[in-house]
Amino acid sequence: MKTLLGTQFAYYVKAHGFHWNVETPDFYQYHKFFQKIYEDAYSAVDPIAEYIRALSEYAPGSLERFLELSIIQGQTKIPRARLMIEELLSDSGQIIQLLNQCFEDATQENAQDVANFIAERLSQQNKFAWQLRSSLKDERA
Ligand SMILES: [Fe+2]
Repeated sequence: MKTLLGTQFAYYVKAHGFHWNVETPDFYQYHKFFQKIYEDAYSAVDPIAEYIRALSEYAPGSLERFLELSIIQGQTKIPRARLMIEELLSDSGQIIQLLNQCFEDATQENAQDVANFIAERLSQQNKFAWQLRSSLKDERA
């Protein structure tokens, strides 16, 4: 769950940065889409931290720790719009794997409340992965 917290935070920061800096003729669409992604990602941060507390562990609460824990890389450059989508899609795949692993762990530990929350996150993350994937498809002739 701590890995998930760090990763989720890194993903949130990246999507928010992309929301600010994206440049493309379809600017408004991308700007809005990235906003949806970062808002959803951010909404997951607090519940994850509180589940960690409920499991009697301390929640990591610093950027340094988040960076150490995250399985996805930050982005210090300003990629082209299409590369932003590709990067978020690839990160999303890693987050989905991590969520699946957390779900298994939670089920094994009989933590049904955590498993339930993780299942909801999977559903959101899968939906965004579909939307990101579809944004990369060319129009059909
Ligand atoms: Fe904004």
